[in-house]
Amino acid sequence: MKKKPKVSAVNLAEFEALARKRLAKDVFEALAGGSDDEVTLAENIAAFRRMAMVPRVLRDVSNRKTNTTVLGQAIAFPVLLAPIACLRRFHPDGELAVVRAAASAGTICIVSTGACYGFEEIAQNAKGAIWLQLYAYRDKGITQSLVQRAEAAGYKAICVTVDVPLSGRRERDYRNQYFYPGEMLYRNLKGLGIKGLTPGMDDAQLHEISRRELTVALTWDYLDWLKSVTKLPVLLKGILATDDARRAVNSGMDGIVVSNHGGRQLDGAPASIDVLRDIVTAVDGRLEVLLDSGVRRGTDVLRALALGAKAVLVGRPYAWALAAEGEKGVSRALEMLREEFDTAMALAGCSRVGEIDASLILNR
Ligand code: FNR
Repeated sequence: MKKKPKVSAVNLAEFEALARKRLAKDVFEALAGGSDDEVTLAENIAAFRRMAMVPRVLRDVSNRKTNTTVLGQAIAFPVLLAPIACLRRFHPDGELAVVRAAASAGTICIVSTGACYGFEEIAQNAKGAIWLQLYAYRDKGITQSLVQRAEAAGYKAICVTVDVPLSGRRERDYRNQYFYPGEMLYRNLKGLGIKGLTPGMDDAQLHEISRRELTVALTWDYLDWLKSVTKLPVLLKGILATDDARRAVNSGMDGIVVSNHGGRQLDGAPASIDVLRDIVTAVDGRLEVLLDSGVRRGTDVLRALALGAKAVLVGRPYAWALAAEGEKGVSRALEMLREEFDTAMALAGCSRVGEIDASLILNR
């Protein structure tokens, strides 16, 4: 009998197991970990699982489409790649592999400010749309030059992370004495006049610099200024309160990402899926609402869309796949999610993304 080829992973969780084998313990834990007691990290997964869905039957679902748009940009299915700093920690091809895989899957990758390759080189490798995730610097000149570089390189939106006045307490990193490798993290920040950033600094010193130079004092005024210096659409990533979501509308933002940063910031913050519906109601269609934190299955994507998200972002899962199998792994992970989502749509009785609504969720 012919030997069947070995299947390395059939779902995203199995990529996690592969990544655990491939990566050094401290690097794996830097990806896996959350803040403090990791209550929110666990809740992100649990909240999706608690949320039962009631399928509709006897609808002809033989002809299905998973495509949609975000900020007017077409995507093949409603999953984007969340920004993760320093992807070269997981595979030498890092961001280059990830943007290529995202484009082949027909979706958008949000490139971190802490990317290990130059923003321009990443853009050249991306055959599809990419967005820049922005950490705001105390010195607006630095922020502005990052935005201008993104615009010039053809990035299609700016996604400002607003839930990191400082980093949450990632105790696994403390225990492992793990720091971001500075040479990788600051690849795009050289030559921008960041005070004290000199070659040969150790990782701990670099960490101190980012604590000092990133703005802990980010406010709505800063975002008004940011809006005034770019023509690109601006999204805020890290909104959990309905009042902040309304404020984002009033500040003219184009979108928000309902997110607890994958359980890495305020421990005890709710799962984003649990606050999504109230936020969608509050913004009332005046901006687009995306969601991340804890998406692991096509059924999670379905739940988020049912509660009003336009699309979701996945974080850790694609990094596991990158660690396990490089670009091919990320492509496979995205294809798994697309296929799972397509199956979930069919089983729920939906043929189009636009047919997914809150009636799918039990007791909503
Ligand atoms: C992140 N995240 C993140 N977010 C951001 O805005 N800029 C960044 O540079 C990073 N870097 C980063 C590194 C690592 C190791 C992780 C795990 C996460 C947060 C990320 O964009 C996203 O919000 C979460 O990862 C989503 O949760 P899941 O999908 O990982 O559960």
